[in-house]
Amino acid sequence: MDKTGRKLYVRTFGCQMNVYDSERMVEALGNAGYIETNHPQDADMILLNTCHIREKAAEKVYSELGRFRELKQKNADLKIGVAGCVAQAEGAEIMRRQPLVDIVVGPQSYHRLPEMEARARRGEKAVDTEFPAEDKFQSLRNRPRAYRGPAAFLTVQEGCDKFCAFCVVPYTRGAEASRPPARVVAEARELVDSGVREITLLGQNVNAYLGNGPDQKKWPLARLIHELSKIDGLERLRYTTSHPRDMGGDLIEAHGECEKLMPYLHLPVQSGSDRILKRMNRGHTADEYLELVCRIRKARPDILLSGDFIVGFPEETDDDFQATLDLVSEVGYGNAFSFKYSARPGTPAAERRQVDEDVKSDRLRKLQELVRRQQNAVQHAMIGREVDVLFEKPGRLPGQMVGKSDHLHAVHVNDEFVRIGDLSRVRIVASMSNSLEGRIAT
Ligand code: 5AD
Ligand code: SF4
Repeated sequence: MDKTGRKLYVRTFGCQMNVYDSERMVEALGNAGYIETNHPQDADMILLNTCHIREKAAEKVYSELGRFRELKQKNADLKIGVAGCVAQAEGAEIMRRQPLVDIVVGPQSYHRLPEMEARARRGEKAVDTEFPAEDKFQSLRNRPRAYRGPAAFLTVQEGCDKFCAFCVVPYTRGAEASRPPARVVAEARELVDSGVREITLLGQNVNAYLGNGPDQKKWPLARLIHELSKIDGLERLRYTTSHPRDMGGDLIEAHGECEKLMPYLHLPVQSGSDRILKRMNRGHTADEYLELVCRIRKARPDILLSGDFIVGFPEETDDDFQATLDLVSEVGYGNAFSFKYSARPGTPAAERRQVDEDVKSDRLRKLQELVRRQQNAVQHAMIGREVDVLFEKPGRLPGQMVGKSDHLHAVHVNDEFVRIGDLSRVRIVASMSNSLEGRIAT
C-alpha cells in the first residue's frame, strides 16, 4: 500500500498534557503520510496515549488493547502503539503482556515516532523510553499546528522535581524542564494566527516555569504571561497545574495586573492535615496554603479556585481526614477533584501501611459531597450575572452552543446566531449539575 493516506486513530487518557501530546503525535505522523480518523476500525495505526497516575488508569490501557485483537485479525497491516506514561513506566513489558503491541513510545520520544513507525512496518518491535537531549517540541515543529478550535493548550514546562510520596510523575515525565520563551511566544502567535483566542499554558509544575529568555535572563511564568498578553487577538490566558510552593509573588500579582489572565486557578493541596502533608513530602503546611489563598484572593477577589485531593493516603486517620474537610470548608472551591489513594509501584508511599478500601470509599464520598455543595453554590451565585463566554463547539441538543466563561464554567446557549469562536456577553439564567445555561445579552 502507498504510504500516504494511511489512517491514524489516537485515543487519549489522562491529563491535558496528554491531549496536547496526542495532537503533536498526529502532526508527527502526519509528516509520515498519516491522516487522523475517529474510527478505530478504519485505522492503519492505533495509538493509545496513556496515563499512569492511578492504578485504574493504567489498567484501562490493557483492557482497551485487548479490544483491538479483532481489528488486528481483520487487518494484518494494522500497527498498535502505546504512548505516554504507561509506556514510560512499563516499557517493553507492555509487549510481553500484550503481544499485539508494535510500538512503545515514552512522552519524551514522540518526535521519533515516524522512524519507529517505519520499523514497525518492517515487522520489528519498536521501543523508545529514553529522555533524549534534543528538544522534542522543536523536532516536532516541521509543520504548523492544525486549528482545532478557539481554545488551545500549549505545553511550556514538563516534568517534576518535587517527588510527592504518592506520585509517579517525576519518574514518568522526568526532571523539570522549561521551553524557551521565544519558542513559546512563536507557537502562541502561530495559534492566534490560525484563529485561537484562548491559550492554556500547560506544565506538570507550570508555575515552576523558568525559561531561558532571549535577553540571557531566566524568565519566570509571570514574565511569560505578561509577554504573551501582548499578542493581539489573544484574548485569554490560563495556566495549569500549579504547586503551592512555586506560587511566587510576581505570579500572584499578575492575577491582578494582567487582564487577559482569567480568574481561575487550579492549586492542588492534596490534604488539609499537616501530618499527612509532611508524609506526602509536599513541602508546605495547611496554614501556608491558606495564607497563599488569601494573597491570591487579595490580588484577584473574584478568582475561582480548584484543587486536587487524595483521601486514604497511608496512615491517614479520621482526624487527618477531618482536617481536609475543614480546609475545603475554609477555602470554598469552585471545583475540585478528589481521588482515593492508589499505591503506585516505585513510589515511597506504596511501601507504607495502607488504609482500608472501604474507609477510603467512605471518605471520598464525604469529601465529594462537600465539594459538590460548594460547586453548586458557586454556580448558583452566577444566575442573573453577565459573563463572557468563548464558544467552542455545538452542544448535545440541536441549536445549542457550548463555551467557557472566564471562570471556566461550561455555559450553553440556544441561539442560532452564535458561531464557534465568538466571545460574547451572556446572561446566566440557570445552573445545571456541571454547566450553566445562558442567553446572549444584548
Ligand atoms: N493516588 C491517588 N491520586 C493521585 N494523584 C497523583 N498520584 C496519585 C495516587 N498515587 C492525584 C493528585 C494529583 C492528581 C493529578 O492526581 O491529586 O494532583
Ligand atoms: Fe506529582 Fe507532586 Fe510533582 Fe504534582 S508536584 S507531579 S503531585 S510529584
